This record gives sequence, C-alpha cells and structure tokens, in this order.
Amino acid sequence: MRRFLMRHLISGEELDRGALEALLDRAVELKSARAAGIGHRSLQGRSVALVFERPSTRTRVSFEVGVAELGGTPIVLRGKEMQLSRGESPGDTARVLSRWVAAIAIRSGSDRVVEELAKNATVPVINALTPAHHPCQALADLMTLRERFGSLQGLRIVYVGDGNNVARSLVILGAMAGAEVVVASPVGYELNDDRAAAELSDPFKAAVGADCLYADVWVSMGDEETSEQRRRDLRPYQVNRELLAAASDRAVVLHCLPAHPGEEITAELLYGERSAVWDQAENRLHAQKALLELLCA
Ligand code: CP
Ligand code: NVA
Repeated sequence: MRRFLMRHLISGEELDRGALEALLDRAVELKSARAAGIGHRSLQGRSVALVFERPSTRTRVSFEVGVAELGGTPIVLRGKEMQLSRGESPGDTARVLSRWVAAIAIRSGSDRVVEELAKNATVPVINALTPAHHPCQALADLMTLRERFGSLQGLRIVYVGDGNNVARSLVILGAMAGAEVVVASPVGYELNDDRAAAELSDPFKAAVGADCLYADVWVSMGDEETSEQRRRDLRPYQVNRELLAAASDRAVVLHCLPAHPGEEITAELLYGERSAVWDQAENRLHAQKALLELLCA
C-alpha cells in the first residue's frame, strides 16, 4: 500500500481519495489471501488496545480477530473496568496506553473523549463508533459496494432513516470515493451535512435510480429515552419491497447491523437475494486489517 501519513482515523476526513482507494485495494487483497490460507503478520509481536465503553458484536470481534490474524495481541478493555469510568482523563489514559500498544481503537458515547485520546496518544487512535461517526463501518460499506459494482465512482447510495453516525460516515467517505450519497430523513432527524449529494425528506424520491438502499436502526445507542417517538417518526422510512421497487434494478440493500427486522428494514429484504448485508458484515474484518496496516506499519 502507498505510504500515506495518517495518524488517526476519527472522522474519516484524515484519508484522501487515493489513500481510501489504496486501503480498499489492500482490504480486497487481504480477503483473497485469507481465503487462500495466506497470512500477513504485520502486527507480529505488537498489541492493540480495543476500548469498548458501549456494546458491540461486529466491531469488537472483527478487530479482535483482525489483530490476531495480523500476528498481534488484541487487548479488549471494557469502559466500566477502566479508570476512565472513575474519572481518569482520556489524555492520561492515552499517555499510558501509548507506552505499551501499537494502536488504540475506542468506542465511546462521547466524541470529545475520542478526540482527547487522539490528541494525547503517541500511537494511532481509531474511532470504533461515537455518536457522530462510525468510519470503520463506512470502510466496509464501500468495500462491499465496490465488490458488487466494480467501482464507486458515480454510484448512487441512498441512506434512509435517522441522520446519525452511520449516515455521516457514509457521506464523508462515500463522497471522498466519488459516490453520490443521498440521505432521506424526516424533519428533525436530518444529517445537515454539505457533503451529502442531497438531503430529502421523501424516501421514494431519494430511492429513484439508487444502486444501494442503506438502513440503520431508528434508535441508536444513547437514544433510548426517545425510542417510542423515534419509532413513530421514522416509520415511513422503512427499507422495504416498495422502496426497493423505486430503486435501480441492480440495487442492493445494506444495513450496518444490528437490525430490527420489521422496523427499519423488512425481514424479506434483510435475508433476501438483494441483500449484501452479510458480506458487508464480513468485510468489517478485511477493511479493518487494511486500516491497521496503514496506521501501524
Ligand atoms: N455495525 C456495528 O458496528 O456493529 P456492532 O455494534 O455490533 O459493533
Ligand atoms: N447508529 C447505530 C449504529 C450501531 C452499529 C448506533 O449508534 O447505535
């Protein structure tokens, strides 16, 4: 992979188009090599801290497996078990972890915590989901779409639902890759991000010509208090058969997971033949291995 000077992955804006393309190329290489039983040991003898202040299935396991497959040792740290939860500053946490590990990935309920950690770490910091961003997810999303369509240039990706962390990262990295990312949300749930190709309130207008319809939960981590209202407001934004009929004939469906079939996506679409969701989940592993190589090599 071309050497690109990048310290952290916090919002995705640390990448540029060339580096993003190179990262996705490398992810594809690592995926093929793994299928052929060929390993790469770029983290041999090194450790990576994986800090989770919030629940995770995919991000945690794909990072843990990815670090191990690259020859490194993953160290999973739960927020509640760390002194962070008793008031130790993110800066001091970063200073000490940096003395031992090659990189720190962190999932936090606060973007400020991740920014403070990155400011004070002397090793790369990876955002493993915050309220505002989920860049690791977007890397796997783009890898999956590139696998399906060959190129991301001009692809119409339509995100339907809450203008949240997943939507923002898809817009930032999708636009960087040359895709047209459209977000369809109800009033009060808009992303309000200039990098979106368009923000519409009508999901059916947004879906016209879509190569991908993308769904995420209506109630993100931290939004639980308003869950009933959210479910009412977002109900017309379900990714379902009718919406898919408005999209391109070749359109696929993506969902970052975890899913609530019958809410933001129908079971028919999630498990159907137009779903690329399970490849998308698998690709978290390959994309994050490429990311770790880029940041730690
Ligand atoms: N998509 C995603 O980040 O899943 P987890 O919350 O299970 O990590
Ligand atoms: N938007 C969701 C994504 C979960 C992977 C959340 O933040 O909970």
